[in-house]
Amino acid sequence: MDIALDLGTANARLRINDSENAIDQPSVIAYNKDNNEILAVGEEAYAMLGKTSAKINVVFPLEGGVIAESGLVEELVNIFMAEVCTSRVVMPRVVACIPGEITEVEKRAIVGAISSFGVRRVLLIETAKAAAFGSGRDIMTPHGTMIVDMGAGTIDIAVMSLGGMSVSKTIKTAGNAMDEEIIKYVRRKHGLIIGKAMARSCKEAIASVCDPDENASFRLKGRDSLRGLPRAMVINAVDISEAISDISNTILNAVVDVLEDTPPELLGDIQMDGIMLTGGLAQLSGMKQLLENETGITVHIARDPADCVVAGCFKATRFIEEAESQRANLNPLMTVY
Ligand SMILES: Nc1ncnc2c1ncn2[C@@H]1O[C@H](COP(=O)(O)OP(=O)(O)OP(=O)(O)O)[C@@H](O)[C@H]1O
Ligand SMILES: [Mg+2]
Repeated sequence: MDIALDLGTANARLRINDSENAIDQPSVIAYNKDNNEILAVGEEAYAMLGKTSAKINVVFPLEGGVIAESGLVEELVNIFMAEVCTSRVVMPRVVACIPGEITEVEKRAIVGAISSFGVRRVLLIETAKAAAFGSGRDIMTPHGTMIVDMGAGTIDIAVMSLGGMSVSKTIKTAGNAMDEEIIKYVRRKHGLIIGKAMARSCKEAIASVCDPDENASFRLKGRDSLRGLPRAMVINAVDISEAISDISNTILNAVVDVLEDTPPELLGDIQMDGIMLTGGLAQLSGMKQLLENETGITVHIARDPADCVVAGCFKATRFIEEAESQRANLNPLMTVY
């Protein structure tokens, strides 16, 4: 039994080969502060966000694709794995993704959380490689492929060829950072205090990083920063898009940096095939356009972009045997346990 696992900052996704079971849930957990009892995970815990009493804590224990609160990540992984693993007779092998830039300690923490479930083996794959497989690109040939995986906590940018990374960069300003900027902006400019979930919904509904639609608007509900009372207002897309422009520039600059470091032969391949965008944030309005305008290279948004990484981890399970026996020298997987 093999499990593909994408433990994202905002969403956890699991796929398993010998059943229909799949998980696609917010990577959030709610617990009682008094006795540390777990109250809810996933969708159920997300619904409690910002609406709990003093006794209940709701946290996203992963940040930027790495572990911020290890005990809680362990709980989360165990609950989700138990849901997909209908049989405990055979211990599963797990292929999990990790950001391109990660420390040894962070890597060990992720492996530790997964191993706590009782697994036969853990194999890691860089997020960008998984995203490439998941979006249907072949990175095992001598041909350059460029992926930009855009999530809530990280943007993973990579140029790959022959199963390996040629150039890569990970930045930690992504979807969540945009939400934070929206919160700050709305408070500063309109005196309205809004929560994270509201900011995120507004971003997904109307924000754009290129030519926002003047006619699009969104109703924000929050608290008046002076009077402290509930207030609602309608904000338009041009206004809200201003709030995220610094972040989109940071992302754009990182993509340009990677292109500048890419060897000319691979650059030719990228020019021919285009840049592939994956991850939930790839759906943000104007993202494709912004990158195309500034790089002059065609940009494709993968089909079901948010699913690409877990789908790619799943496709990479075919390399497990080779990785275990350390036979092949071209293997995208790292065996760690
Ligand atoms: N339609 C949409 N428009 C704009 N943004 C979107 C849309 N759908 C999802 N997002 C954003 O995508 C992000 C979540 O993407 P994803 O699920 O790929 O992240 P993740 O894998 O959990 O995070 P990471 O890979 O950074 O650890 C969130 O910031 C979310 O607001
Ligand atoms: Mg992700």
